[in-house]
Parts: sequence; structure tokens; C-alpha cells
Amino acid sequence: MNAAIRAVVRACAYQNVECVGVFRGLEGLIEGDFKELGPRSVKNIINRGGTFLKSARSEEFRTRAGRQEAYDNLTEAKIDALVVIGGDGTFTGAKVFNEEYNFPIVGIPGTIDNDINGTDYTIGYDTALNTVVEAIDKIRDTANSHNRLFLVEVMGRDAGDIALNAGIGAGAEEILIPEQDLGRDRLIASLKRSKKSGKSSSIVVVAEGDQIGKNIIELADYIRENLDQYEVKVTVLGHIQRGGTPSCYDRVLASRLGVGAVDALLRGEKDVMIGISHNKLVSVPFADAIKGDNEIDLDLIRVADITSI
Ligand code: F6P
Repeated sequence: MNAAIRAVVRACAYQNVECVGVFRGLEGLIEGDFKELGPRSVKNIINRGGTFLKSARSEEFRTRAGRQEAYDNLTEAKIDALVVIGGDGTFTGAKVFNEEYNFPIVGIPGTIDNDINGTDYTIGYDTALNTVVEAIDKIRDTANSHNRLFLVEVMGRDAGDIALNAGIGAGAEEILIPEQDLGRDRLIASLKRSKKSGKSSSIVVVAEGDQIGKNIIELADYIRENLDQYEVKVTVLGHIQRGGTPSCYDRVLASRLGVGAVDALLRGEKDVMIGISHNKLVSVPFADAIKGDNEIDLDLIRVADITSI
């Protein structure tokens, strides 16, 4: 997100547009937590994860009174357009705000889950994938040396993109995702088959929103009860996936989307997210971005099945 903010601030400077940073997201809008930003305000942040503006979920912005407060603050500060970075929640808030006040807002997709419609990638996703793959590479050394089965839980409350792609990249035997519930018996049968085929260790990547296991500890117990050939271990990667040095891909993506968001506002666009599709920037109405029918790539599932044989 820092790289995107940097790009927005510098695109404004390039276009002679004054730029103000809103601290703590929608919460900061309601409290008028604003600070003018120039090109030098965003130096040395392209290499840092997270957001120096900080972020906050806002219950108050869900209320009419909260949004009125935000609108009054924006008017008082003579701010006439907004760039927001986030996912479903942020874009839904932006859409409602635009409907109520006809206020120009352009969004940038920022979530490690990659579960926004209309964009091939979201900021943070590539970095999270690299973090997961690096972690599993390390886990593999133990799995392999001790003939163990590792269940590795990755983020993805509702989406299996991280699990599926990192799973393929790290060479996992099985990948469990929320979009696909194939059942525990199939998992056990498949693990038995791979053991029989000569594998001495196994890595199963489990998205946190997966329904087969419901809970990874419970799933580990079930596997222990039904498969005695392996010692079963569990690793939950957790929030290490949401931070750290951003990958080059993420930095470039964030820079392109930040510049694209300012360009879109100057073209008079509003109520849209700037996304990337086939490596070109696209404007996607918020209503489409938040539709929530982000589908999993069946081709990737096939690749995962074939390459883990
Ligand atoms: O942004 C979504 C996400 O990455 C989910 O996959 C995960 O459940 C959640 O964030 C965790 O974040 P927090 O602990 O801040 O709710």
C-alpha cells in the first residue's frame, strides 16, 4: 500500500494537484485526520509493507451520521476527490458515500486475498505468495528429513487464491480451499495413494476458510486417526503473510494503479476501481468489483492435481 500511496502523491504533484493524506482510513475521514503530502513526504517507503497512513475498520462510517461527519470534514478541507485503497468493505463504503453525496472516489484494490472482481491481481497478493512459498520451502526440509506430513494453514477467509497458487509453487501434495469441498475421505485416500507411490513426506496447504477441515487442528486429528503412516504436524503461517518487504511485482503494480487512479479522477471518472486485466489498467464500477463471485481457476486446480501425482 505504501507504494500505491507514493504513486498517488507523486502523480498529484506531477499533475499540479494538491494532495492530502487521510490517516487511519475511513475512521480518519470522520475525525478529519488529514495532512498535506508532497513528493518528499513519501520518500523511502516504496520498500516498506503496510501503510504509513495506517488503516482502521470503521463502524461509524456505516452510519449516516458518520458519513455526514466525513463529508463535512472533506468539504471544510476543500478536498474534492478521494483515492481509497482496500477491498470489499472499503469499496462498499465508497459506493454508498458516492450515492449519497455524489463525491468522486476512485479505488485501488489492496488485499492479499486477491478476491476482488474485475482485476487480475490485488496489491499485496504477490508478496504474500512469495512469503508462503519461502516458508513452505523451509518446512519441506523438516518434512522430508523426518518423513512427516505437514498441514500448513495460509490466509484466505473466503478465497483460495493464496492456497492454490502458493500450493502449486511450493509443490504441495494437496490444497484445500473454501471454494471446493471434496471431503475428508478423498483427502485420506489421496494421501494413502501418494504414500504408496513412494512419497516419504507430504505437504497439505489449507486455506483458513476451507470447509473440509473447518479447523486445521481438528483436521490434523482426523488424519492421525485415519492414516498412521505419517507423523502429522501443523503450521499456521498467520500474519507474516500480511507484511514484510513487498515484491517487485507488487511495487510496480501499486505504482501503476496509483498513477492510474489519479489519471482516472482527472478524466472525471468516479465510483470505479482501477484494476489490471491482461496487463492493462481498467476501470471497474465498484458495484462489479464487490459482487463477490470471484471464481477460482479450474485450470489451476487441474495443474495442482497433475503436478502433485
Ligand atoms: O484481508 C483478508 C485477510 O487477509 C483474510 O484472509 C484474513 O482472515 C484476514 O485478512 C486476517 O486479518 P485480520 O486479522 O486483520 O482480520
